[in-house]
Amino acid sequence: MANTQEFFDYITSGYATKGDAITLGAAMLEGKTITNALVRVPLKTLNRHGLIAGATGTGKTKTLQVLAENLSDKGIPVLLMDMKGDLSGIAEPSPGHVKIDERHAQIGIPFESKKFPVEILTISEQNGVRLRATVSEFGPVLISRILELSEAQSGVMAILFKYCDDHKLPLLDLKDLKKIIQYASDEGKDDIASEYGRISPATSGAILRKIVALEQQGGDLFFGEKSFETDDLLRVNDNGLGYINIVRLTDIQDRPQLFSTFMLCLLAEIYATFPEQGDSERPELVIFIDEAHLIFKEASSALINQIESIVKLIRSKGVGLYFVTQNPTDVPDAVLSQLGLKVQHALRAFTAKDRKAIKLTAENYPLSDYYETDEVLTALGIGEALVSALNEKGIPTPLAATLMRAPMSRMDVLEPSELKELLDSSALIKKYNEEVDRESAYELLNKKIETAHQEEAKEKAAQERDAAKKSTSRSSSSRSRKTTSTWEKVLTSPTVIRSVLGILTKMIK
Ligand SMILES: Nc1ncnc2c1ncn2[C@@H]1O[C@H](COP(=O)(O)OP(=O)(O)OP(=O)(O)O)[C@@H](O)[C@H]1O
Ligand SMILES: [Mg+2]
Repeated sequence: MANTQEFFDYITSGYATKGDAITLGAAMLEGKTITNALVRVPLKTLNRHGLIAGATGTGKTKTLQVLAENLSDKGIPVLLMDMKGDLSGIAEPSPGHVKIDERHAQIGIPFESKKFPVEILTISEQNGVRLRATVSEFGPVLISRILELSEAQSGVMAILFKYCDDHKLPLLDLKDLKKIIQYASDEGKDDIASEYGRISPATSGAILRKIVALEQQGGDLFFGEKSFETDDLLRVNDNGLGYINIVRLTDIQDRPQLFSTFMLCLLAEIYATFPEQGDSERPELVIFIDEAHLIFKEASSALINQIESIVKLIRSKGVGLYFVTQNPTDVPDAVLSQLGLKVQHALRAFTAKDRKAIKLTAENYPLSDYYETDEVLTALGIGEALVSALNEKGIPTPLAATLMRAPMSRMDVLEPSELKELLDSSALIKKYNEEVDRESAYELLNKKIETAHQEEAKEKAAQERDAAKKSTSRSSSSRSRKTTSTWEKVLTSPTVIRSVLGILTKMIK
């Protein structure tokens, strides 16, 4: 029997912090909770990313909820990717339960019931603040990566973006992008060829097909205006609680390409717009991705590389990323190796493969004199987890089997009437949910084509008149050909291209 007092001292000194911290629960030894041996994560290292893993029903989502609401409580805003729609209850207080009181008595911290400010967001037709971005903001490099274009096709994409930029044709939605590609292989092909070289119709055809595929996943809902300003994720309410922004993604499960696109765009935009934080005492924003295997599932290796590099870079902006998934192997190694906080719930050993995975998982945790890690992994109960964090010096804390605290907010979802009330009171919905389809490449090119057709018709009519005149009386007047100079007339709309592109291009290299 290990010495309980010694263990208590080991945990409390290992988890002591100078600055503010979030308490996750109390450490357990040989299956017993050691009251007041609190397991705490310093705010200072919460931008160092993390993983919440474990078999189904072991408490991953509740751990996410606990972290999110405690961050909010400290005035730190949170962004949650809610794949199953089970997080809206954060907006209402927990009704409490004797089991929760027992849990907290064992941990040694009082249970408080509390609700948190919530904003519901969406990237599809669901209720909530519409998250959108323009094609221009993505830039040709990222769009090419998302569409998985070949090098030659990416080159064409770069030319088309440049052409639109030079001719003040805003690329807002996929309709604009399709239009310029069609234009480049049809009415505008000579015009573009004279400036940038010829574009093969086979290449533009291939690009078009890929855009249509993205559209079929609902990409047309996501691209366009009004573009979401990432600053709106950083709101704090009048009582100093950080907003918990919940992106409802229940209808995204079968559309992995759209989800990875959205995540990548969001992270890139955050990276581009947030200021550098230096050595900060607390994160600016913490993002949780529940069911995170979905962003990596079916994503191309180029996209995964992209996500890996953003994960690395975004830390310096004070943004922490937390992946929630059943098996740590769902997350690529390059991402796993960058994660500071690990909360591993129970794993179940049904098959030989499971047992192998458990051994492997155990090896990725710090060694401990108090635990046989692989045994603990299968013995953990619901709402218990092996925790390893980074202390304020960035050194891993002692491994602690932890009885996790319960969420202060409701563990169940909102009733439809409660959800309606929440949506009705949203200031951001008023700001973002108006459909705008301002004059952009699509309309401008259509106009240009129309004007060119009219000019052509006029010219033809004039020529016919001339010919008729010529046949009666000889006329020496000749008309100047003006068909190709109509561009300038119609291209007067201001460009809205933000300079995210430059930053992204740098990141991608
Ligand atoms: N920290 C906790 N405090 C109190 N109860 C908890 C806690 N964690 C988990 N539970 C209980 O366990 C149930 C399952 O938890 P949760 O939904 O978080 O599991 P999960 O690992 O996300 O499952 P899935 O893989 O199916 O999404 C909860 O509904 C709750 O009753
Ligand atoms: Mg879950």
